[in-house]
Amino acid sequence: MSVVQRFEGLKDEVREGLGEKIVALRRDIHREPELGFDTERTAEKVLAALEGLPLGIRTGVVENGVVATLDGEGDGPTVGLRADMDALPIREETGLPFASEIEGKMHACGHDGHTSMLVGAAHALCGMRERLNGTVKFFFQPAEEGGGGGKVMVEEGVADDVASIFALHLWPGLPFGTAATKAGPIMAAADAFEMTVRGKGGHGAFPHQTADAIAMAAQIVTALQTLVSREVDPVEPAVVTVGEIGAGSAFNIIPEKARLGGTVRTLNEDLRRMMPERIERIARSVAQGMRGDAELDYEFSYPVTMNEEGAARTALGVIRGLFGEEHTLELANPSMGAEDFAFFLEKIPGAFIWLGVGEDVSFLHTPTFAFDEEILPQGSALLTALALESLSE
Ligand code: NI
Repeated sequence: MSVVQRFEGLKDEVREGLGEKIVALRRDIHREPELGFDTERTAEKVLAALEGLPLGIRTGVVENGVVATLDGEGDGPTVGLRADMDALPIREETGLPFASEIEGKMHACGHDGHTSMLVGAAHALCGMRERLNGTVKFFFQPAEEGGGGGKVMVEEGVADDVASIFALHLWPGLPFGTAATKAGPIMAAADAFEMTVRGKGGHGAFPHQTADAIAMAAQIVTALQTLVSREVDPVEPAVVTVGEIGAGSAFNIIPEKARLGGTVRTLNEDLRRMMPERIERIARSVAQGMRGDAELDYEFSYPVTMNEEGAARTALGVIRGLFGEEHTLELANPSMGAEDFAFFLEKIPGAFIWLGVGEDVSFLHTPTFAFDEEILPQGSALLTALALESLSE
């Protein structure tokens, strides 16, 4: 049977059978967003939605994560499907009837959708046990938006038996119902730095008696622009963004210290490892040239989200079979955004897939991010098909 024949009708079947349930769960989660590892209520909702299914359930993974296991008929491999559950500290401005009821918190990255799509896939796959030659593990993960819940989940060993793994992310800017992926890097490594620039404080009218930390910080920000433009191979993507700068307490005082914060994005591990030394060298030499110094605190955070070639090919085949060629996109370029599914992909061959919610949708992490929920059963069908395809041999 071709992939197309195997998944004929699956999209409609999931929409008709599970669409309402998936949308209701999404709205329920959307109303009550939770941050970081504190996804207690969300996990409760997931557990309630999975009740009665023939799943082995493990709770309390990474504090409020849930891992559900479905044993199929055969004794083939284990395939993993992962969704993130956490929201963002953003005040929602969508005006939706099911908008966030928690002040200052919002599901602005679609994780409410990811979670309910995975619950939908669990329902669909439980009804197809006889077609599964192996096991499906469903990972409901907290703390994707900082905190590295994926890292902790992998470290806890709950994915040790997983042979391949997939995850979806709803994606504004991509045509509605089009799914996209690629082999190799799909999302960047995201690292963070904080820098303290030190000089000597004093009276604003007597700069010669001081070493001005604000002037140093300004020069450092400018000098850091030459890192990507002059030190990195022009065909190698890299981003250095200073997103925070702070100093001073009054208009007529030269402060002793200034603070910078930034993010560094790379796709190449060697380049990634070189960045702290380069940033520190530029910052310290600029500051020292102005009679001060700079101290760098660098944190390697999320690694590159690296799709394994075979898994990416499987995913593209499944997308073609399910959505048709016109809704299949093999990406030419990765995004410089980051994703902590990367920690799973460091250990397990798999693929991260973007699912388009349309070009006219506000981007992720904005207070007006909202999408057409028709996409949710489609995402459930895609996750279902990925598991079926991985366990069909
Ligand atoms: Ni996200």
